Amino acid sequence: MALQKDSEVFLNQLVHKGFNTYYVSNQGGGKGGGTFTRNPAPLFSPYSWKYTDARSYLYKLSEFLSHEDSERINIQYEHPDLKDIISAATSTTQRAGIQLVKSKAHGPVHRHTPNSFRVVLEAPEEGAISRIDGVNLEMHPGDVIGNTNWIWHEHFNHGTSDLIWTSFLDAILVKWIGGVFYDPPKTFNGDVNFPDISQEEYVSVLGRSTLPEELGTNPNTPLQFYRFSDACKSVSALSKLKRGKERVAVEYKNPTTGGSISANQSLKLNLIPGGCLTPMTRKTENIIFLNFSGETTLELGNGEGEFVLGKYDVAVLPSWTSHRVVNNSYSDEALYFTASDAPLFKNCGLYREEIVG
Ligand SMILES: [Fe+2]
Repeated sequence: MALQKDSEVFLNQLVHKGFNTYYVSNQGGGKGGGTFTRNPAPLFSPYSWKYTDARSYLYKLSEFLSHEDSERINIQYEHPDLKDIISAATSTTQRAGIQLVKSKAHGPVHRHTPNSFRVVLEAPEEGAISRIDGVNLEMHPGDVIGNTNWIWHEHFNHGTSDLIWTSFLDAILVKWIGGVFYDPPKTFNGDVNFPDISQEEYVSVLGRSTLPEELGTNPNTPLQFYRFSDACKSVSALSKLKRGKERVAVEYKNPTTGGSISANQSLKLNLIPGGCLTPMTRKTENIIFLNFSGETTLELGNGEGEFVLGKYDVAVLPSWTSHRVVNNSYSDEALYFTASDAPLFKNCGLYREEIVG
């Protein structure tokens, strides 16, 4: 039944006075439509970024921006659908981007509440160091380095070539809910947990099947270093176990819970054998892909397009997007990282997944 003219006037007035009602609000006045949609209606669409573009912009930036100017030299993967809501949002929960630490440069010490996990892309043979809570962690391509909530961290490149990584932060979620705290450079007061401990000793304390008894459980992993060769060994062995016929993945774990690396993020290394593709699936997770080696195609369901991902290219898919991953080689395996916010959905009882074809 059509509303009377004076009812429509009333409803318009309501909205302009800072109120609303389901009758109006559920028709959707902003991005994503109304609240009660039959299926998830995310605020952004699938998108991808080329590493070659990002890398050339990174070097252009480094010609006129120093660490003194900006604290960090980076290019962020900002989703065009989200940029008017929160700056540099790759998805509605995570920010991804690449950062450069030039040979002989130093990224100054600081800390923040958003968790960050970086995957090293390019590094000198030796001398690329992240100092996390006082521990020097030497980085090589494929290594995962964390700096979780409120841990002091800084970066040194003593090597003879540049250091570049892709990082995944839960900064967008933390910003949205009002949880960001930040101690910028120069506020460091020296309160580190593991002074004068080597990388090997550090990994032995936190990266084994035993843990210090006083550690308890922590929603964010206390272990900040995961060696690529270890993850590769695991995922390759798993692939052999599955006869090399399907995509396999290993998840980076929080040793204190056995769960995901943080309450908000799940990071995985995926291997897809040559000639293989995954089933077309959809899941309630906002997921960022970092293609690491080989070439893959991310096919979207319902003929909605595809992204061809070369070395270090990135793509993001919103929750409940039907997709499959195809290895474009018939003979060589491909490796890719995924950084998703699935733990959030699981902790809220919202996680669903299904094969759609
Ligand atoms: Fe940081």
